[in-house]
Amino acid sequence: MTLDELKAKCAHCTKCPLCEGRTNVVFGMGKKDADIMLIGEGPGENEDLQGMPFVGRSGQLLDKFLAAVDLSRDKNVYIANMVKCRPPKNRDPKPEEQDMCLEWLREQFKIIRPKIIVCVGRISAQKLIGPDFRVTKEHGNFIEKNGVLMMGTFHPAAILRNPNNKEAAFGDWLALRDKIQELEIRI
Ligand code: URA
Ligand code: SF4
Repeated sequence: MTLDELKAKCAHCTKCPLCEGRTNVVFGMGKKDADIMLIGEGPGENEDLQGMPFVGRSGQLLDKFLAAVDLSRDKNVYIANMVKCRPPKNRDPKPEEQDMCLEWLREQFKIIRPKIIVCVGRISAQKLIGPDFRVTKEHGNFIEKNGVLMMGTFHPAAILRNPNNKEAAFGDWLALRDKIQELEIRI
């Protein structure tokens, strides 16, 4: 199956209750065989309306970080979320919603085959890296899981709430750039 075929299937998903409140399924976007994949939390209002991930204020900040290290969703990165439908009032996605939606994400991983996965924020880091992951303590650390390097960093929404974390977050994106160079990944 291609990524476009998977996206078309996912567009009709009713596996979890989040389907009820959505305008659009936000499947993901970016380079179809990217070496770098970013996983956020879930669509917010703008994302739900436009059907694309990280297109609001958080997304603008994320795109700035990416651009600073020569990455972009147009060129060399794929961006998706833990859940593909917007949780009501932007609440955290429930564990069972994440578990249902993870099947779609796994299919995306299988097709895209990224070398590095960046978990953007606590929700995806705790689901994909480890349940005890603490962003404030473990951000920017790379660990290998099933042959893929994983790193967790601050969610841009958390940085907008608390700009004190901006420098530390930027350090994580610089660490990603260094890791790409170290591994001689051609982006
Ligand atoms: N926050 C997320 O985690 N994902 C988005 O797509 C937008 C905001
Ligand atoms: Fe399906 Fe995921 Fe949307 Fe739930 S959040 S309905 S599992 S696509």
